[in-house]
Amino acid sequence: MKVKAAVFYEPGVPLAIETLDLAAPGPGEVLVRVAAAGVCHSDWHLMTGATRHATPVVPGHEGAGVVVGVGPGVGRVRVGDNVALSWAPSCGACFYCLHDRPSLCQTYVGPLWAGTMMDGTTRLSHDGRPVYHFSALACFADHTVVPEECCVVLDKDIPLTVAALIGCAVTTGVGAALNTAHIRPGSSVAVFGAGGVGLSIIMGAKLAGASRIIAIDTHEAKGDIAQAFGATDVLMAGPETVGAIQALTEGRGADTVFEAIGLPAVQETCLAAVRPGGLVVLVGISPMGSATNLPGALITRQEKTVTGTYYGSANPARDFPLYAGLYRRGLLDLGRLISRTYPLEQINEAYADMLGGEIARGLIVFP
Ligand SMILES: NC(=O)c1ccc[n+]([C@@H]2O[C@H](COP(=O)([O-])OP(=O)(O)OC[C@H]3O[C@@H](n4cnc5c(N)ncnc54)[C@H](O)[C@@H]3O)[C@@H](O)[C@H]2O)c1
Ligand SMILES: [Zn+2]
Ligand SMILES: [Zn+2]
Repeated sequence: MKVKAAVFYEPGVPLAIETLDLAAPGPGEVLVRVAAAGVCHSDWHLMTGATRHATPVVPGHEGAGVVVGVGPGVGRVRVGDNVALSWAPSCGACFYCLHDRPSLCQTYVGPLWAGTMMDGTTRLSHDGRPVYHFSALACFADHTVVPEECCVVLDKDIPLTVAALIGCAVTTGVGAALNTAHIRPGSSVAVFGAGGVGLSIIMGAKLAGASRIIAIDTHEAKGDIAQAFGATDVLMAGPETVGAIQALTEGRGADTVFEAIGLPAVQETCLAAVRPGGLVVLVGISPMGSATNLPGALITRQEKTVTGTYYGSANPARDFPLYAGLYRRGLLDLGRLISRTYPLEQINEAYADMLGGEIARGLIVFP
């Protein structure tokens, strides 16, 4: 079939809206009519060259839609199901899956980073030449073929716009707070970067009962946005930031500090901003090949812990319905994350708005 998709060719060149060929789903694959796809910074890392990938590639890894076809042997979903898409399919059988760390599943890492389906081939093509799938989802397209392991069925009362955000920002951010950091009631939290991911961390910290949630951003407009999600204090990023965080936490530094941008220099600031014995969680994805300078002596003497979080240490099959249920009960304000919607043709404007710092999350919606 023919699909309309946004295609990435090379860093610095805007995404091109093109008509591509999409082959029928193979064994274990699912054809999804995409309803909505979130504008996440991880796709933008392709545009800057910070993340390298085979090209041409269709980005988009934060999506939801309706199953409209299934390949042979598909058992998880049926035509008509509403699905949120996971960009980290897990096998259920490897060491990591068996030890409750499915976001670290190694089974599919090869094809995922090669930009193909699990059999090493693409379903997308243009004039007979392969077009790659970003994170096996390629959901900046009106239809996509994905491995069935990427599909999590959600109840029909959950809007597909909200389901899309559960597919990345919400699961990453709320999961970083709950699964990775295990935030305790009454604790203090600082979040660097109040984008879709950082705001989701703030929501997760509020849900866990943190008493002080400090949001730090470079854009003035993010202050009001962060407070609407539960930040108790907002700071403009600058040379005074660490001192200001200490002043808000009885001189100690925050119990838990999240970096939700992907900048080595800010990761270093996070270590200074966390109290002795505290936890730094690196959520933002820094450029491939970059390095962060964290003073080992300080980590030793002050027993600071630094960890990463991939997809909020999630188990998507468990966590997507959990977050959908918390949304339904009014405990996660996911609708508020969607500041603006765009047709696919305006995807480059949507990314400009993300960088402009005035919005929480932009969302591509398909008619
Ligand atoms: N770990 C994971 O599994 C995972 C999943 C999704 C996204 N990410 C990464 O998380 C990061 C955030 O993604 P997003 O979609 O929320 O991005 P975003 O662009 O929506 O938000 C980033 C925020 O950081 C702010 N910022 C930029 N420089 C800053 C600085 N020096 N100090 C303070 N704030 C600053 C921006 O103003 C913006 O509000 C990206 O690196 C993305 O790739 C990681
Ligand atoms: Zn993302
Ligand atoms: Zn596995």
